[in-house]
Amino acid sequence: MSDLSQKPVADLSEDEARAELKRLAGAIAAADIAYHQHDAPEITDAEYDELRLRNIEIEARFPGLVRIDSPSMAVGAAPAEGFAKVRHGVPMLSLTNAFSDEDVTDFVARARKFFMADILRDADFHLAFTAEPKIDGLSASLRYENGILVRGATRGDGAVGEDITENLKTIADIPHRLKGEDVPAVIEIRGEVYMTHAEFQRLKDHSARFGGQDYVNPRNTAAGSLRQKDPKITASRKLKFFAYAWGIAEDADGNAQPPAATQREVVEKFSAWGFATNPLMIRTESADDLLAHYRTIESQRATLGYDIDGVVYKLDRLDLQQRWGFVARAPRWAIAHKFPAEQATTLLTGIDIQVGRTGALTPVARLAPVTVGGVVVENATLHNEDYIKGIGNSGEPIRNGVDLRIGDTVIVQRAGDVIPQIVDVVLDKRPSSAEPFVFPHICPACGSEAVRELNEKTGKLDSIRRCTGELICPAQGIENLKHFVSRNALDIEGLGDKQVSQFYAEGRIARPADIFTLRARDERAIKKLKDADGFGAVSVKKLFDAIDARREPELDRFIFALGIRHVGETTGALLAKEFGTIEAFRDTAFAAAHHEDGHSVFPEIGGIGETVRSSIMAFFANDRNVQALDDLLAEVKPKPYVVTISADSVVAGKTVVFTGALEKMTRSEAKAMAERLGAKVAGSVSSQTDILVAGPGAGSKLKKAEELGVEVISEDEWFERVGR
Ligand code: IVH
Repeated sequence: MSDLSQKPVADLSEDEARAELKRLAGAIAAADIAYHQHDAPEITDAEYDELRLRNIEIEARFPGLVRIDSPSMAVGAAPAEGFAKVRHGVPMLSLTNAFSDEDVTDFVARARKFFMADILRDADFHLAFTAEPKIDGLSASLRYENGILVRGATRGDGAVGEDITENLKTIADIPHRLKGEDVPAVIEIRGEVYMTHAEFQRLKDHSARFGGQDYVNPRNTAAGSLRQKDPKITASRKLKFFAYAWGIAEDADGNAQPPAATQREVVEKFSAWGFATNPLMIRTESADDLLAHYRTIESQRATLGYDIDGVVYKLDRLDLQQRWGFVARAPRWAIAHKFPAEQATTLLTGIDIQVGRTGALTPVARLAPVTVGGVVVENATLHNEDYIKGIGNSGEPIRNGVDLRIGDTVIVQRAGDVIPQIVDVVLDKRPSSAEPFVFPHICPACGSEAVRELNEKTGKLDSIRRCTGELICPAQGIENLKHFVSRNALDIEGLGDKQVSQFYAEGRIARPADIFTLRARDERAIKKLKDADGFGAVSVKKLFDAIDARREPELDRFIFALGIRHVGETTGALLAKEFGTIEAFRDTAFAAAHHEDGHSVFPEIGGIGETVRSSIMAFFANDRNVQALDDLLAEVKPKPYVVTISADSVVAGKTVVFTGALEKMTRSEAKAMAERLGAKVAGSVSSQTDILVAGPGAGSKLKKAEELGVEVISEDEWFERVGR
């Protein structure tokens, strides 16, 4: 068809859809490059959005055709590579926090005490304070020279921030030139960059439609938007700014020139110069008024349209601020009265059980959607079955021991970025029909029994209930496969989480062995991978070759890849070293698992404790696991782990220490490799050390080696030396 690009998605044949996805991937990539890298968009935003939408619609109709380079898999723009550093003329301070009314009355009392002599001497002496919302955004400092914005920076560590001038210039509330005659020759205006709830929601909706990234909350999104390398992206985010403080303020001769005499007048000046300032600021002399204003602001919190996390009180007169001074990195003359964590009341509509890689059954609360601190909350973690019953981790009652039931009215809390929690149940509102929740003893993913194991050390039941289905459980199966091919395990190029999920869903692979029979099965198949999945012949061949290239994996990686609970990389290496071959490991573990006193059969291995040994035996006690391993071993031949004190190894007999970040191998791999070559690996540098392999960030060990005259080489030099 000549104009395929206009054909409705519903009418596309599979071949046409494949061709369209290919065209769209190319067109979107080209548009991205034109926009982000060359600063020269070639199509309008609306046209671009249309391309993305069409891509998503076609993928939704033909999930099997999703391309490896699909635009829907790309997550937002790359983060900024780095901005120039800027030293603030005056450091950007933080604030001392107050959490109770008493902390606030204490603050006012401290001020009265400090200025008592003035109060007693002068009947006209007034100690006034301002109170204004504490905006939950990011502070920025804007330097104006002769009224012109010359630089804008992040707070950074308070002394040195990053130059984000071009990004800040895109914010409509930030004037490029100050209005009025009375602007100091140099002034740093400080304030908060933030994102409104409306803008945050708009971005989220857009992202849901076009398959973009997941935005967590307005503050993080504002932060991400400000740190974009491309100011056009910042501009598209519609950030806002409130001015509330200042750093340097000087006249043309370099003398200090505060904009006014009091905090409130300065902020009024900011407004006259063209800044947005917060309308909720008051000035008062009484602690009671400060607290009353705190309650007023708190009551308006949900309807303000942006996130605030407290109220800031500041001494009003600048000369008195100067006299009262600073502690460490905060002024004495100001305090932030924080709001308690935000809570909301909603309905617990259901409890779902999710199954993880290790078979852990995790309950998740489904809630009637409710806004908590500007974020819509629909789920909350319930941790485990005891938590639902009202029992904490160490057996103590939580929520006064009240259990959670579907249909309950619950109080949900969100503090900062943490996952929402259910903090309480409104028992008065519990429907009479609400039944205690029965935690399943059967895995919802595979129907196998789910059990709580006895912790041998504590003698208590494990708080987590686990599915015993292991390799037959689809929930565990898919996560296990992802683990099997992951970077520190078999590391199969081109076979990542996405492909594993897709192949699993299509029934192409279910167990690790299937990965290695994929090529042979595909050769016999009528519906071939290269046709069916939009992979193309070249990428399919590449994938099959990458799989074949891993048919003789290192033994330690292979053992780690099996996904036996508690067997991490280090344990994998210890087991490989102990047993030498996969057969020896398999046969011993199998024998131990089927012996009435398994611990007497399984050898004691330094660095491997009871829990790991029990876990290995539990794995081998399950016939399905053994079958899956044996099937895998029909395809894969892990290399025997040989400790060769070979004469030709240049590091044989040497004592080696690894330090700093290693880039080409993990620490346990490095250790295993050195030991294979007959070296002894030590944890610290001493006069016995022959070689220190130092990666970036090496610290005290490097220093010590230099002092002792120990030979220091890089990771690359190490590889050169051992000839790998
Ligand atoms: S005044 C010397 N006022 O809170 C005092 N800070 O915890 C300078 N903030 O880094 C700060 N709203 O990012 C001040 N109305 C407000 C504020 C505010 C938010 C932030 C600011 C600062 C942090 C200190």
